[in-house]
Amino acid sequence: MTVYLDYNATSPLCDAARDAVYAVVDGDAGNPSSLHLPGQRARRHLDAARRRVATALGGSPGEVTFTSGASEANHLGLRGHAHYLQRAGSVRDDGAPPVALISALEHPSMVAASDCLSALGWRVVELSVGSDGRIRPETVTAALERDQVSLIALLAVNNELGVCQPIAQIAALTRARGVTLLCDATQALGRITVNVKAWGVDLLTLSGHKIGGLAGSGALWVRAGVGCDPLFAGHQEQGLRAGTENVAGAVALGAACTALEGRLADGDRIRDLRDRLWQGIGALLPNALRNGSEEAAHETGQTLNVSFAGVEAATLVMALDLEGIAVSAGAACSSGTLEPARAVLAIGDGSAAWLGRARSAVRFSFGPGNSDADVERVLAVLPALVERCHAR
Ligand SMILES: Cc1ncc(COP(=O)(O)O)c(C=O)c1O
Repeated sequence: MTVYLDYNATSPLCDAARDAVYAVVDGDAGNPSSLHLPGQRARRHLDAARRRVATALGGSPGEVTFTSGASEANHLGLRGHAHYLQRAGSVRDDGAPPVALISALEHPSMVAASDCLSALGWRVVELSVGSDGRIRPETVTAALERDQVSLIALLAVNNELGVCQPIAQIAALTRARGVTLLCDATQALGRITVNVKAWGVDLLTLSGHKIGGLAGSGALWVRAGVGCDPLFAGHQEQGLRAGTENVAGAVALGAACTALEGRLADGDRIRDLRDRLWQGIGALLPNALRNGSEEAAHETGQTLNVSFAGVEAATLVMALDLEGIAVSAGAACSSGTLEPARAVLAIGDGSAAWLGRARSAVRFSFGPGNSDADVERVLAVLPALVERCHAR
């Protein structure tokens, strides 16, 4: 049996989603754009899923667009809204390039979307992060005072560190200045309560497979009245996303959203497992260093990011894998090697020592399927593996 501690990478399909998917794929649902009965059946499945996603977020169904995942939703939200602002003449009119802020903690998909904005003539400015892993509202205020900003992208919970950002506080700042706030809530759903109204964000993105839905499904929520242009023209999804809808993916996402309450209710137990693993590591391996402060990552409970001095993270990940323990480290790059995680680099001081620390950072991420036995198993094998990897 694998000890699965990589829930931030993907979460197994939950029962509610599995049942919902079977009902769609085993049935005779057609294309939701078709006029006949099977098509209308598919349309009803899609509409019900949209209502479920909207309810989970505290928004309205008409504000939800299904996508192929959070990566696409991030591209659609950031680039689509930026395009809309330019088309509507709602960016600065002094001839200088429009400005977008993105946090130093964003997922690579948001970074890639912001690179596209740069190519369109936007100036993209990175928001720095504290050593605890938090973006300070004062940092946002200073950036808003320095530049005439149109748009900010800020993720709610970072996938590497599990640190929760003060989204509602920052949204109050952006609202007061008429600046759009796009929030990537992919790692927040099911870990903390997400409510678009309470948070006051303008656009929000999420992914199906991080909450027990299917990979290849996700959504973009756009507050009514906020403009967003499609990346590819088409008639589906109220003209915002081209292509026949992935009904099974949407239905699984909707079902996973209805199961979020249960996931949240399990949050204290999961946090307890995570904290016990950290206490155990601290006792057995005094040189281990936690990345992102304990306090800042307390709220979300699912993530533990630890550097094991002198150990190449990829080597330790593989050694753990041979013991049947699945964890992760850094980001795979095209050469097949691992790059240190951007977020771990972002909270450091830029020194060579910090680079070494980032290279030795391993992420343990917990979810509903974990138990005490998983923590015990990791603690039973980790010290010897760290020692062996260190000796290489
Ligand atoms: C914070 C965050 N945003 C976006 C994504 C991308 O999600 P998807 O796999 O659905 O494209 C991930 C996936 O790891 C993530 O953790």
